[in-house]
Parts: sequence; structure tokens; C-alpha cells
Amino acid sequence: MSEKNHRVSRRQFLNYTLTGVGGFMAAGMLMPMVRFAIDPVLKTGTGQDMVAVCEESELTNEPQSFNFKIEQVDAWYESEEPRTAWIYKDGSGNIVALSPVCKHLGCTVNWASDPANPNRFFCPCHYGLYEKDGKNVPNTPPLAPLDVYEHEVKDGTVYLGRAKPKGEA
Ligand code: FES
Repeated sequence: MSEKNHRVSRRQFLNYTLTGVGGFMAAGMLMPMVRFAIDPVLKTGTGQDMVAVCEESELTNEPQSFNFKIEQVDAWYESEEPRTAWIYKDGSGNIVALSPVCKHLGCTVNWASDPANPNRFFCPCHYGLYEKDGKNVPNTPPLAPLDVYEHEVKDGTVYLGRAKPKGEA
């Protein structure tokens, strides 16, 4: 073959250059779109972080209601969701943090709001009752104990995590 056959014509050079630059620009535009589309899949650990809720010194043997917010990530949508916990110290000084969500149909339970049951959690929707430790009272609508929040204490502050069915927490 002669050297002449290996030469790149002006037209070929232009084709290669434009294809290369075009490909580079297309990749630059497509990469962010692909990244955006699969972003939730790339995120590791969907576990909820522990959130500071109250000071340990505020806790008594009587359940008290504490409100707090958690960061919720639902695919691309991030929001702050309000949460409530009933927190107290049991007879041994252990912290108990219960979810207020009734295990019957999801109404909110309150501590000692039924005069006939002054030492129990009461759900007004269908007269559900729970003992102080969250155990459902037999022959009332709820069929499971209140969920229990994971908790830890750091430097006198009580942090709560996810609420889980009793026994899993
Ligand atoms: S929702 Fe609580 S008793 Fe029905």
C-alpha cells in the first residue's frame, strides 16, 4: 500500500472530530440524567438516624408525650415528618419509649385519658386499652402491643430511632 492510502482526508478528519466532540457532549448531558434516574438505588443505608428528643432529666415514672421530627427520604422526595413518643422510666430506671399509634386501626393513644383506666394507655376510637408497658389489654380491639422506639442516651440526651414491634426493638 502506498502512503497516500493511509492519509486522512479533510472530510474524514472533520467526521472524526465532530463525532468525537458530539459524543463527548452527549455523554456530558446524559450522565447527570442517568445519575438522577438511579440516584435512590445508589444511596446506601436507608436506616433512620437517631434523633435527639428530650433530656433524660425530664423523664419521670409517668409517661410523657414528646414531639420530634425525623428526616424522611422517599425516593427523590425528602421531608421532615412529625413523630410523637410516650417516654418514661420504669421501676428499674430503664427508659421506655412507646409509639402512640394504636395497633388496631392506627388512631393515637393517650396516657390515662380514660377515667375508668387511670393507669393505662387509652385509644378513644374503639376503646382500645394498653398497659403502661405497652402491652395490649385482652378483650379490647388492639391485638398487639404498642411499638417500641429504639433509644440511646448520650451526654444526658435521649435519642430515639425507629419504632418497632415489641420484641424486635
Ligand atoms: S384504632 Fe385504637 S382501638 Fe381502634
